[in-house]
Amino acid sequence: MFPAEVYKKRRQKLKELLPEGVILFPGNREVPYNYPANTYRFRQDSSFSYFFGLNEPDLAGIIDPENEREILFGNDVNLEDIIWMGPQPLLKEKAAAVGINETLNLSAFQDFIQKTLQAKRKIHYLPPYRSEILLFLHNIMGISPGEVVAGASTDLVKAVVSLRSIKDAYEIAEIEKMVNVAREMHITVMRLAKPGRKEAEIAGIIEGIALASGGASAYPVILSKHGEILHNHSHANILKAGDLLVTDAGAESELLYASDITRTVPVGGKFSARQKEIYEIVLAAENNTIDRIKPGKPHLEVHLAAARDIAHGLKEIGLMKGDVDEAVRAGAHALFFPHGLGHMLGMDVHDMEGLGEEFVGYDEETKRIQQFGTAYLRLGKKLRPGFVLTDEPGIYFIPALIDSWYSERKFEQFINYPRVLEYKDFGGIRIEDNLLVTETGCRVLGNPIPKTVIEIEEACRS
Ligand code: GLY
Ligand code: MN
Repeated sequence: MFPAEVYKKRRQKLKELLPEGVILFPGNREVPYNYPANTYRFRQDSSFSYFFGLNEPDLAGIIDPENEREILFGNDVNLEDIIWMGPQPLLKEKAAAVGINETLNLSAFQDFIQKTLQAKRKIHYLPPYRSEILLFLHNIMGISPGEVVAGASTDLVKAVVSLRSIKDAYEIAEIEKMVNVAREMHITVMRLAKPGRKEAEIAGIIEGIALASGGASAYPVILSKHGEILHNHSHANILKAGDLLVTDAGAESELLYASDITRTVPVGGKFSARQKEIYEIVLAAENNTIDRIKPGKPHLEVHLAAARDIAHGLKEIGLMKGDVDEAVRAGAHALFFPHGLGHMLGMDVHDMEGLGEEFVGYDEETKRIQQFGTAYLRLGKKLRPGFVLTDEPGIYFIPALIDSWYSERKFEQFINYPRVLEYKDFGGIRIEDNLLVTETGCRVLGNPIPKTVIEIEEACRS
């Protein structure tokens, strides 16, 4: 946990941004896996953790700016709990550790909320993304689940987004620590990516590294020779020489901060000439992005510049043709690069996505472009110092997408289909680092992870 002052300051800033009404943060509950007592690994709600710092189930927090009250609701354990869970600090002690003086039993929560409603005071809460929390809010507020969803507070969303978007030195250190755990995970993949190895074996080993760090994987490990499937969570294949293995894996710290790193490596340790050509295009887009990131620049512009790098590179090797700027304006590059260049990163791997991408990644000034590919860009707005984001361009040969576009001869003036059809068995390449926007540009977080062709081939040989 960070020092109590950190949480006090966060709540103080929230009160300044939202001086009226009562702000409610329900903490997460245990969620059953296959029967009630056998639960998934507990994951606290990120915003609850941001303001209240306590990563355990069955807590709720109230901030009442008008009456200068901050209350932690929870239960002290009884003897029976202690037999199963061991001794626990008192609720008062937990609250004190995050700078809160007032605690109440969870059983008083409904009464507190009902009295607040009777007093006709506005209750601000964030959009619930778990059915348990939706039902909890439905029960305590006495409104239908549909009304709970509709009643989430846009003012609170905007206030939380404005605070969580700018990372302080404590948060940056946490993320950076997790990039270094991810580094260990990826270097291990490089060592293990040998013909005959099962994807599942390697995925299990690197997930173990995340767990051994005291945290966990920040999201389900993507590790597949079918890297053209963007979020491929299957690990069913056995690797063979010549395969390209895409691993997108990061770690989450005990304080819930994430890293999100991708590397693509040649099984057997040597890129083929064809693989190297595509790899260098993605690498150039990734490195150019690091040079382009600056505060004040819309990330949408940086995304489109990376798309032009990709189209330019593909034109040079004969897979695209025509004017690069026109091709990207038309969206032809999205056959190969159908996702966004990057997203916010923090306590959630797609940071604050549950609060609404339009609030996190866009604003009045920068609107989402509704074109296939660029529409998936989660962060378009102007960058600010303190933002942490991913840089993750890729080139993929997705057989179903190639067939679909080819059947329509879509963007034939920009795509050299006879050549592209020869790449349907290629797979995909993605390279991803995590960046902190600084006053003058950006800084790549963590210790360097092998990234050039030579570095990766060397790491695969070791
Ligand atoms: N790490 C998966 C993603 O960024 O979508
Ligand atoms: Mn990512």
